[in-house]
Amino acid sequence: MSEITLERPLEGVALLRLNRPEQLNALNMSLRELLAHHISALSADAATRCIVITGNEKAFAAGADIGELARRTVLDADFDRSRAAWHAIEICPKPIIAAVNGFALGGGFELALHCDIIVAGEGAAIGQPEIRLGLMPGAGGTQRFVRAAGKFASMRWLLTGDRMSANEALRLGLVSEVVPDQEVVAHALKLAAKIAELAPLAVRAIKEAVLLGPDASLQTALTLERKAFQLLFASEDRSEGAQAFVERRKPQFKGK
Ligand code: CAA
Repeated sequence: MSEITLERPLEGVALLRLNRPEQLNALNMSLRELLAHHISALSADAATRCIVITGNEKAFAAGADIGELARRTVLDADFDRSRAAWHAIEICPKPIIAAVNGFALGGGFELALHCDIIVAGEGAAIGQPEIRLGLMPGAGGTQRFVRAAGKFASMRWLLTGDRMSANEALRLGLVSEVVPDQEVVAHALKLAAKIAELAPLAVRAIKEAVLLGPDASLQTALTLERKAFQLLFASEDRSEGAQAFVERRKPQFKGK
């Protein structure tokens, strides 16, 4: 059985399930490279408009594979392989939704932080426990966490490695929504289907502006937004959106 399964449950939506249940979906190198491979392929696939990543009821992912980490040396080639695998997710132009049940720890929560929307189940247990292994987060945990939750909340959780509940994560702005555990995947798919029906070029432009903006000055970011907004006026979907509104019908967006 593959360490990741790909399903197409709804039009325009791809569902990736991490599948190492005996290890609580610990992210070993082969799983991560397979995930990167799927994300790159789905990025290039015109029929895919939104991606959902999930685990199982017990774990989204319990972090990097500690057995593999234990064997790593300082100049190990796995550091570069690991970087390349995360990068494929980082540069995916399509929205990715993390559907999180159970443990989302260390690299597992960092995977969720790479996504654009996080739907968490009430019973999710979230945290960056690397400090308890004599380590620190190494896949963006210190940086994406602080951008979402701010300095004082980040220090509180990163320096202790404590686990937090889904509702605490919601309070800190670390997840988008909390729903009953059994509804997590269905709810994430519902959001994905909604996004998949919208204009792909506009969806892509929003993702790009939201992700790039915070690294630029406000004026630069506003210019980036204005240019992207202006560029969308060259798209057929922009005309279709306005036309459908006037004709009181549902728009048919084509990504053109
Ligand atoms: N790596 C490798 N194997 C793991 C794992 C991990 N991160 N997390 C769990 N497993 C394995 C366990 O070894 C165990 O395997 P065996 O049955 O073969 O012994 C199996 O999954 C089930 O785990 P537990 O028996 O421990 O289950 P539990 O319900 O008692 O505890 C848990 C669950 C609290 C999540 C506990 O497994 C745990 O603390 N896991 C480690 C969490 C962690 O520290 N993650 C951070 C890793 S470092 C990192 O991610 C670096 C980075 O930034 C990239």
